[in-house]
Amino acid sequence: MKDFIHRAAEDLIRSKNAVALTGAGMSVESGIPPFRGKGGLWERFDPMEYAHIDAFMKNPAKVWDVLIKEMKGIIDNARPNDAHKGLARLEKLGILKTIITQNVDGLHQMAGNTDVVEFHGNFAWQRCMKCNNRCETTKIDIRQTPPRCECGGIYKPECIFFGEMIPPQCLQRSEMAASACDTMLVIGTSAGVQPAASIPLIAKQAGAKVIEINLEKTPLSKEISDYIIPGKAGEVLKTLTIEIDRLLANK
Ligand code: OAD
Repeated sequence: MKDFIHRAAEDLIRSKNAVALTGAGMSVESGIPPFRGKGGLWERFDPMEYAHIDAFMKNPAKVWDVLIKEMKGIIDNARPNDAHKGLARLEKLGILKTIITQNVDGLHQMAGNTDVVEFHGNFAWQRCMKCNNRCETTKIDIRQTPPRCECGGIYKPECIFFGEMIPPQCLQRSEMAASACDTMLVIGTSAGVQPAASIPLIAKQAGAKVIEINLEKTPLSKEISDYIIPGKAGEVLKTLTIEIDRLLANK
């Protein structure tokens, strides 16, 4: 791992426009479970039964009671970990320009990153399905589910459910950022859900270096990634930013 850290530190210092694509593995050290693999949410819940828009429309109370309430409890208490802090440091150093995240937890912004594309929406806001009114998730009364707006409509988190489209402006911004970057960090994503999984391919085809940080290999590891730094996102990013600071201090 040490050699890869040094290599990535040098690559990032040379970079003029680095972009990160992040996934659930980024927030595991903040206590938020991933979706797939051991301990993942989809091990306990069938996503088609709880995370598909048709399932929500059919029975919003069930989806609120089982999945959304649990997510609210976890996300309300989560705080940025060393991985989020590391990316905030990279932005401060002028290295990292944009984060494209599949996460809905808002932890990148809480850590201090200012240009974050929320590819799958966010959990911080709810939208009334009848009148389109927005309400902060922290202000919503969930003693009765599904929670309702004053107009009587049902609130739905502003997250993208399966079967929903990625907002075109997010897709466009992500594709533009990916095709303009010279280095892409791909952190804590299984790269199995489209269209997010194609973003590193866009970067690669535009000539960027792709560096993965993950506990495991992914479908990107063999042909898209230049190299993979194995390990926990928080540990890797902490060591990586220390190495970057060291190299910059010795310049
Ligand atoms: P997944 O749960 O599919 O994958 C998590 C990835 O993080 C895996 O590759 C793990 O090996 C890795 N991982 C776990 N812990 C880690 C750690 N501490 N450090 C580094 N890596 C770690 O999550 P995503 O790829 O983000 O979509 O999932 C993509 C989308 O599928 C989600 O945004 C969500 C889900 O269904 C929607 O809800 C629309």
